[in-house]
Amino acid sequence: MFARSNKYNLFERSKVSISEIDKELKVELAVLGGLDIFTNAHVLGVANNTSKICEAMGLNHDLSKQCILGAYMHDVGKIKIPSDILQKTGALTDEEFEIMKMHTVYGYEICMRYDQFRYLAPIARYHHENLDGSGYPDGLTDKQIPEEAKLIKIADIWDALTQRRQYKEGYKASKAAEIILSDVKKGKTGSKYLYFLLLCIIDEYSVKNKGNEKELREAKEHLMDLKDLDKIYKKIYDRGYSDSLAKKLKRYELPAGYDLSANTNLLSKTNQKIETLTKVIKETHEEIAILKKRCREAKRLIKFKEEWNVRLFGRRV
Ligand SMILES: [Fe+2]
Ligand SMILES: [Fe+2]
Repeated sequence: MFARSNKYNLFERSKVSISEIDKELKVELAVLGGLDIFTNAHVLGVANNTSKICEAMGLNHDLSKQCILGAYMHDVGKIKIPSDILQKTGALTDEEFEIMKMHTVYGYEICMRYDQFRYLAPIARYHHENLDGSGYPDGLTDKQIPEEAKLIKIADIWDALTQRRQYKEGYKASKAAEIILSDVKKGKTGSKYLYFLLLCIIDEYSVKNKGNEKELREAKEHLMDLKDLDKIYKKIYDRGYSDSLAKKLKRYELPAGYDLSANTNLLSKTNQKIETLTKVIKETHEEIAILKKRCREAKRLIKFKEEWNVRLFGRRV
Protein backbone atom coordinates (compact mmCIF):
# COMPACT_ATOMS: atom_id res chain seq x y z
CA MET A 1 0.00 0.00 0.00
CA PHE A 2 1.06 3.56 -0.56
CA ALA A 3 2.05 5.62 2.44
CA ARG A 4 0.12 8.84 2.24
CA SER A 5 0.30 11.70 4.65
CA ASN A 6 -2.79 13.75 5.42
CA LYS A 7 -1.17 17.01 4.60
CA TYR A 8 0.89 17.50 1.49
CA ASN A 9 4.28 18.86 2.39
CA LEU A 10 6.86 18.34 -0.26
CA PHE A 11 9.83 19.49 1.69
CA GLU A 12 9.34 17.28 4.71
CA ARG A 13 9.09 14.09 2.72
CA SER A 14 12.19 11.98 2.21
CA LYS A 15 13.13 12.17 -1.41
CA VAL A 16 14.21 9.38 -3.69
CA SER A 17 17.73 10.19 -4.67
CA ILE A 18 17.96 10.55 -8.42
CA SER A 19 21.72 10.07 -8.29
CA GLU A 20 21.25 6.76 -6.47
CA ILE A 21 18.95 5.56 -9.24
CA ASP A 22 21.15 7.05 -11.89
CA LYS A 23 24.13 4.99 -10.73
CA GLU A 24 22.11 1.81 -10.31
CA LEU A 25 20.50 2.05 -13.69
CA LYS A 26 23.68 2.99 -15.50
CA VAL A 27 25.22 -0.28 -14.39
CA GLU A 28 22.17 -2.19 -15.56
CA LEU A 29 21.88 -0.31 -18.83
CA ALA A 30 25.49 -0.99 -19.66
CA VAL A 31 24.13 -4.45 -20.51
CA LEU A 32 22.03 -2.90 -23.23
CA GLY A 33 24.72 -0.66 -24.64
CA GLY A 34 22.23 2.14 -24.13
CA LEU A 35 24.28 4.45 -21.96
CA ASP A 36 23.83 7.35 -24.36
CA ILE A 37 20.29 7.73 -23.13
CA PHE A 38 21.66 9.27 -19.94
CA THR A 39 23.30 12.10 -21.78
CA ASN A 40 19.85 12.95 -23.03
CA ALA A 41 18.57 16.02 -21.16
CA HIS A 42 15.01 14.98 -21.98
CA VAL A 43 15.27 11.67 -20.12
CA LEU A 44 16.74 13.40 -17.08
CA GLY A 45 14.00 16.02 -17.24
CA VAL A 46 11.28 13.35 -17.37
CA ALA A 47 12.86 11.51 -14.42
CA ASN A 48 12.91 14.76 -12.48
CA ASN A 49 9.26 15.56 -13.26
CA THR A 50 8.27 12.02 -12.35
CA SER A 51 9.98 12.36 -9.01
CA LYS A 52 7.97 15.57 -8.40
CA ILE A 53 4.67 13.86 -9.21
CA CYS A 54 5.55 10.93 -6.93
CA GLU A 55 6.43 13.25 -4.07
CA ALA A 56 3.29 15.33 -4.45
CA MET A 57 1.22 12.12 -4.50
CA GLY A 58 2.95 10.94 -1.37
CA LEU A 59 4.00 7.65 -2.96
CA ASN A 60 6.31 5.56 -0.85
CA HIS A 61 10.00 5.21 -1.61
CA ASP A 62 9.82 1.90 -3.49
CA LEU A 63 6.98 2.92 -5.73
CA SER A 64 8.52 6.32 -6.43
CA LYS A 65 11.74 4.58 -7.33
CA GLN A 66 9.94 2.27 -9.74
CA CYS A 67 8.23 5.23 -11.44
CA ILE A 68 11.51 7.12 -11.76
CA LEU A 69 13.19 4.04 -13.22
CA GLY A 70 10.28 3.90 -15.65
CA ALA A 71 10.95 7.51 -16.58
CA TYR A 72 14.57 6.68 -17.31
CA MET A 73 13.51 3.76 -19.49
CA HIS A 74 10.48 5.30 -21.22
CA ASP A 75 12.38 6.22 -24.39
CA VAL A 76 14.94 3.40 -24.29
CA GLY A 77 13.56 2.16 -27.63
CA LYS A 78 15.08 5.24 -29.25
CA ILE A 79 18.36 3.33 -29.19
CA LYS A 80 17.03 1.60 -32.30
CA ILE A 81 15.83 4.73 -34.14
CA PRO A 82 18.24 6.05 -36.82
CA SER A 83 20.09 9.08 -35.48
CA ASP A 84 19.23 11.29 -38.47
CA ILE A 85 15.56 10.98 -37.50
CA LEU A 86 16.23 11.20 -33.76
CA GLN A 87 18.32 14.33 -34.07
CA LYS A 88 16.29 16.07 -36.74
CA THR A 89 15.40 19.53 -35.48
CA GLY A 90 12.65 20.31 -37.99
CA ALA A 91 9.29 18.58 -38.37
CA LEU A 92 9.38 14.88 -39.24
CA THR A 93 7.85 13.67 -42.50
CA ASP A 94 4.96 11.20 -42.19
CA GLU A 95 7.29 8.35 -43.01
CA GLU A 96 9.87 9.47 -40.45
CA PHE A 97 7.17 9.86 -37.84
CA GLU A 98 6.02 6.27 -38.43
CA ILE A 99 9.59 5.13 -37.79
CA MET A 100 9.86 7.35 -34.69
CA LYS A 101 6.64 5.89 -33.26
CA MET A 102 8.32 2.50 -33.23
CA HIS A 103 10.48 3.54 -30.27
CA THR A 104 7.58 2.50 -28.06
CA VAL A 105 7.53 -1.04 -29.45
CA TYR A 106 11.33 -1.34 -29.45
CA GLY A 107 11.43 -0.07 -25.86
CA TYR A 108 8.86 -2.69 -24.86
CA GLU A 109 10.87 -5.43 -26.54
CA ILE A 110 14.11 -4.33 -24.90
CA CYS A 111 12.51 -4.22 -21.43
CA MET A 112 10.87 -7.61 -21.92
CA ARG A 113 14.23 -9.20 -22.76
CA TYR A 114 15.61 -8.54 -19.26
CA ASP A 115 14.06 -9.76 -16.02
CA GLN A 116 15.05 -6.61 -14.17
CA PHE A 117 13.29 -4.32 -16.70
CA ARG A 118 10.23 -6.42 -17.54
CA TYR A 119 7.87 -4.58 -15.18
CA LEU A 120 8.82 -1.30 -16.90
CA ALA A 121 7.85 -2.59 -20.36
CA PRO A 122 4.29 -1.12 -20.21
CA ILE A 123 5.73 2.37 -19.65
CA ALA A 124 8.01 2.06 -22.66
CA ARG A 125 5.14 0.81 -24.83
CA TYR A 126 2.20 2.91 -23.69
CA HIS A 127 3.54 6.35 -22.79
CA HIS A 128 2.23 7.81 -26.09
CA GLU A 129 -1.27 6.34 -25.83
CA ASN A 130 -4.25 8.71 -25.45
CA LEU A 131 -7.38 8.10 -23.38
CA ASP A 132 -9.57 8.47 -26.49
CA GLY A 133 -7.66 5.84 -28.46
CA SER A 134 -5.89 8.35 -30.74
CA GLY A 135 -2.40 7.57 -29.45
CA TYR A 136 0.16 4.96 -30.49
CA PRO A 137 1.35 2.22 -30.90
CA ASP A 138 -1.80 0.25 -30.00
CA GLY A 139 -4.54 2.88 -29.88
CA LEU A 140 -5.51 1.81 -26.35
CA THR A 141 -8.24 3.67 -24.48
CA ASP A 142 -8.54 4.93 -20.91
CA LYS A 143 -8.95 1.79 -18.81
CA GLN A 144 -6.56 -0.22 -21.00
CA ILE A 145 -3.66 2.17 -20.41
CA PRO A 146 -1.59 1.36 -17.31
CA GLU A 147 -1.52 4.17 -14.72
CA GLU A 148 2.26 4.32 -14.66
CA ALA A 149 2.27 5.04 -18.41
CA LYS A 150 -0.27 7.86 -17.83
CA LEU A 151 1.95 9.31 -15.12
CA ILE A 152 5.11 9.21 -17.23
CA LYS A 153 3.18 10.68 -20.15
CA ILE A 154 2.52 13.88 -18.17
CA ALA A 155 6.15 14.04 -16.99
CA ASP A 156 7.19 13.51 -20.62
CA ILE A 157 4.94 16.17 -22.17
CA TRP A 158 5.81 18.65 -19.42
CA ASP A 159 9.50 18.29 -20.19
CA ALA A 160 8.96 18.57 -23.95
CA LEU A 161 6.92 21.76 -23.49
CA THR A 162 8.94 23.59 -20.85
CA GLN A 163 12.55 22.77 -21.52
CA ARG A 164 14.78 24.90 -23.64
CA ARG A 165 16.66 22.94 -26.27
CA GLN A 166 19.23 23.98 -28.86
CA TYR A 167 16.48 24.37 -31.43
CA LYS A 168 13.61 25.79 -29.36
CA GLU A 169 12.67 27.95 -26.40
CA GLY A 170 10.66 26.35 -23.61
CA TYR A 171 7.14 27.49 -22.71
CA LYS A 172 6.39 29.05 -19.34
CA ALA A 173 4.89 26.60 -16.85
CA SER A 174 1.49 28.35 -17.05
CA LYS A 175 1.44 27.98 -20.84
CA ALA A 176 2.48 24.31 -20.64
CA ALA A 177 -0.33 23.69 -18.13
CA GLU A 178 -2.79 25.42 -20.46
CA ILE A 179 -1.71 23.23 -23.40
CA ILE A 180 -2.03 20.01 -21.39
CA LEU A 181 -5.41 21.13 -20.00
CA SER A 182 -6.66 21.63 -23.55
CA ASP A 183 -5.72 17.99 -24.24
CA VAL A 184 -7.57 17.02 -21.06
CA LYS A 185 -10.68 18.84 -22.33
CA LYS A 186 -10.40 17.03 -25.66
CA GLY A 187 -10.44 13.75 -23.74
CA LYS A 188 -6.91 12.76 -24.71
CA THR A 189 -5.24 12.98 -21.32
CA GLY A 190 -6.27 12.69 -17.69
CA SER A 191 -5.59 15.60 -15.37
CA LYS A 192 -4.73 13.84 -12.12
CA TYR A 193 -0.97 13.64 -12.63
CA LEU A 194 -0.92 17.18 -14.03
CA TYR A 195 -2.63 18.30 -10.82
CA PHE A 196 0.08 16.71 -8.66
CA LEU A 197 2.86 18.07 -10.84
CA LEU A 198 1.40 21.57 -10.59
CA LEU A 199 1.19 21.32 -6.79
CA CYS A 200 4.87 20.61 -6.72
CA ILE A 201 5.82 23.31 -9.22
CA ILE A 202 3.79 25.94 -7.35
CA ASP A 203 5.68 24.99 -4.18
CA GLU A 204 9.01 25.28 -5.96
CA TYR A 205 8.16 28.69 -7.39
CA SER A 206 6.99 29.90 -3.98
CA VAL A 207 10.24 28.78 -2.33
CA LYS A 208 12.25 30.40 -5.13
CA ASN A 209 10.32 33.64 -4.71
CA LYS A 210 10.86 33.66 -0.95
CA GLY A 211 14.61 33.40 -1.64
CA ASN A 212 14.36 36.29 -4.10
CA GLU A 213 12.38 38.38 -1.62
CA LYS A 214 15.07 37.82 1.03
CA GLU A 215 17.75 38.85 -1.47
CA LEU A 216 15.73 41.96 -2.34
CA ARG A 217 15.44 42.98 1.32
CA GLU A 218 19.20 42.59 1.73
CA ALA A 219 19.89 44.57 -1.44
CA LYS A 220 17.63 47.38 -0.19
CA GLU A 221 19.46 47.49 3.15
CA HIS A 222 22.77 47.57 1.28
CA LEU A 223 21.45 50.42 -0.86
CA MET A 224 20.71 52.51 2.23
CA ASP A 225 24.33 52.12 3.36
CA LEU A 226 25.61 53.00 -0.10
CA LYS A 227 23.43 56.13 -0.21
CA ASP A 228 24.69 57.14 3.20
CA LEU A 229 28.29 56.65 2.05
CA ASP A 230 27.54 58.67 -1.07
CA LYS A 231 26.47 61.61 1.10
CA ILE A 232 29.57 61.34 3.26
CA TYR A 233 31.92 61.25 0.25
CA LYS A 234 30.18 64.21 -1.35
CA LYS A 235 30.56 66.23 1.84
CA ILE A 236 34.26 65.31 1.93
CA TYR A 237 34.65 66.49 -1.67
CA ASP A 238 32.77 69.73 -0.94
CA ARG A 239 34.21 70.62 2.43
CA GLY A 240 37.26 68.42 2.88
CA TYR A 241 37.91 65.85 5.61
CA SER A 242 36.65 66.53 9.08
CA ASP A 243 36.94 64.40 12.19
CA SER A 244 33.23 63.70 12.28
CA LEU A 245 33.14 62.63 8.59
CA ALA A 246 36.19 60.40 9.08
CA LYS A 247 34.43 58.85 12.10
CA LYS A 248 31.31 58.17 10.02
CA LEU A 249 33.37 56.56 7.27
CA LYS A 250 35.15 54.36 9.79
CA ARG A 251 31.85 52.78 10.83
CA TYR A 252 31.69 51.06 7.45
CA GLU A 253 35.06 49.28 7.60
CA LEU A 254 35.72 49.98 3.94
CA PRO A 255 38.44 48.13 2.01
CA ALA A 256 41.58 50.05 1.09
CA GLY A 257 41.15 52.15 -2.03
CA TYR A 258 37.37 52.36 -1.67
CA ASP A 259 36.26 55.82 -2.78
CA LEU A 260 33.39 57.80 -4.25
CA SER A 261 33.68 56.23 -7.72
CA ALA A 262 33.74 52.67 -6.28
CA ASN A 263 30.69 53.60 -4.22
CA THR A 264 28.90 55.11 -7.24
CA ASN A 265 29.61 51.93 -9.15
CA LEU A 266 28.18 49.74 -6.41
CA LEU A 267 25.19 52.04 -6.07
CA SER A 268 24.29 51.63 -9.70
CA LYS A 269 24.85 47.84 -9.61
CA THR A 270 22.67 47.52 -6.50
CA ASN A 271 19.96 49.63 -8.09
CA GLN A 272 20.04 47.37 -11.12
CA LYS A 273 19.88 44.29 -8.91
CA ILE A 274 16.86 45.71 -7.05
CA GLU A 275 15.16 46.49 -10.33
CA THR A 276 15.78 42.99 -11.71
CA LEU A 277 14.73 41.23 -8.49
CA THR A 278 11.57 43.34 -8.22
CA LYS A 279 10.64 42.40 -11.78
CA VAL A 280 11.37 38.68 -11.27
CA ILE A 281 9.40 38.58 -8.00
CA LYS A 282 6.42 40.31 -9.60
CA GLU A 283 6.49 37.97 -12.61
CA THR A 284 6.86 34.90 -10.41
CA HIS A 285 3.91 36.02 -8.25
CA GLU A 286 1.82 36.45 -11.39
CA GLU A 287 2.96 33.04 -12.68
CA ILE A 288 2.11 31.40 -9.35
CA ALA A 289 -1.37 32.98 -9.42
CA ILE A 290 -2.02 31.57 -12.92
CA LEU A 291 -0.58 28.19 -11.97
CA LYS A 292 -2.87 28.03 -8.94
CA LYS A 293 -5.84 28.64 -11.23
CA ARG A 294 -4.69 25.93 -13.63
CA CYS A 295 -4.08 23.60 -10.68
CA ARG A 296 -7.65 24.11 -9.43
CA GLU A 297 -8.90 23.51 -12.96
CA ALA A 298 -6.84 20.31 -13.22
CA LYS A 299 -8.34 19.14 -9.93
CA ARG A 300 -11.87 19.89 -11.13
CA LEU A 301 -11.25 17.96 -14.33
CA ILE A 302 -10.25 14.75 -12.58
CA LYS A 303 -13.11 12.68 -13.84
CA PHE A 304 -13.96 10.06 -11.34
CA LYS A 305 -13.43 9.57 -7.66
CA GLU A 306 -11.91 6.20 -8.64
CA GLU A 307 -9.12 8.03 -10.37
CA TRP A 308 -7.76 8.70 -6.91
CA ASN A 309 -7.66 5.04 -6.13
CA VAL A 310 -5.87 3.49 -9.03
CA ARG A 311 -3.36 0.78 -9.61
CA LEU A 312 0.29 1.47 -10.18
CA PHE A 313 2.57 -1.46 -10.86
CA GLY A 314 -0.24 -3.76 -9.81
CA ARG A 315 -0.65 -2.11 -6.38
CA ARG A 316 -3.42 0.13 -5.16
CA VAL A 317 -2.68 3.77 -4.45
FE1 LIG B 1 8.58 8.60 -26.17
FE1 LIG C 1 10.01 11.05 -24.03
